[in-house]
Amino acid sequence: MKGVILAGGTGTRLAPLTKLVNKHLLPAGKFPMIHYAVAKLASAGIEEILLVIGKQSAGLFIDYLGSGKPWGVRLTYRIQEEAGGIAQGLSLAEGFVAPGEKMVVLLGDNLFEGDLSPFVGQFARQEQGAMVMLKEADDLHRYGVPVFLRDSIIFIEEKPSTPKSGYCVTGVYMYDAGVFDRIRQVRPSQRGELEITDVNNMYAMEGKLQYGVLTGWWTDAGTFASLREAGEKLSDGRGGPS
Ligand code: G1P
Repeated sequence: MKGVILAGGTGTRLAPLTKLVNKHLLPAGKFPMIHYAVAKLASAGIEEILLVIGKQSAGLFIDYLGSGKPWGVRLTYRIQEEAGGIAQGLSLAEGFVAPGEKMVVLLGDNLFEGDLSPFVGQFARQEQGAMVMLKEADDLHRYGVPVFLRDSIIFIEEKPSTPKSGYCVTGVYMYDAGVFDRIRQVRPSQRGELEITDVNNMYAMEGKLQYGVLTGWWTDAGTFASLREAGEKLSDGRGGPS
């Protein structure tokens, strides 16, 4: 299975630091944020990883991560020119992920404690479709929130004012290569982005969306408060690379 890390995006909520450097290179505990995504995929047995980055700080990503050798992985880089959203960033992985292959996708600003290996194993055995990783959360209006019918996700609402469950959809996704055809059918949302939630809802409507629940802590480190909180947990050795 291939890995894709989405690390484009402008990080406006972390300005003015992100005027200087891309948010995924900001410190979280002992390492720059991007370190953890690579380490998580490596520890789940993913050896071929595509990094989708913006033009800002592109050279610094390469300075830090290089070929991926220290993590035992092989890295490929692609540049996302426009801030077109998560699904637009993922579309750049077409070709890197061959037809018939599967992929694990991480948003580079999602930091978490749990091990992905069991879920990657489960998805490898899933014949086709997609899997999203969920986590219980309080501030659900910031996220995609699943709507369940019995034990299945029938729909995901993006940033709902009245959440219909207690879970958020984290930035950890797994797809078959059919994701690229689905992305082509998505139209820009009100915020002008190709939403990954629209893609996931296509799988949900086809009855092909599975889910898992992350163990341990999880945060989207896109704000100063969440980045500081994640940094403290990672410095305690919880969720960081050993
Ligand atoms: C994105 C997704 C959302 C998900 C979140 C996780 O939100 O659209 O469904 O819950 O990532 O970090 P965004 O950060 O683009 O607002």
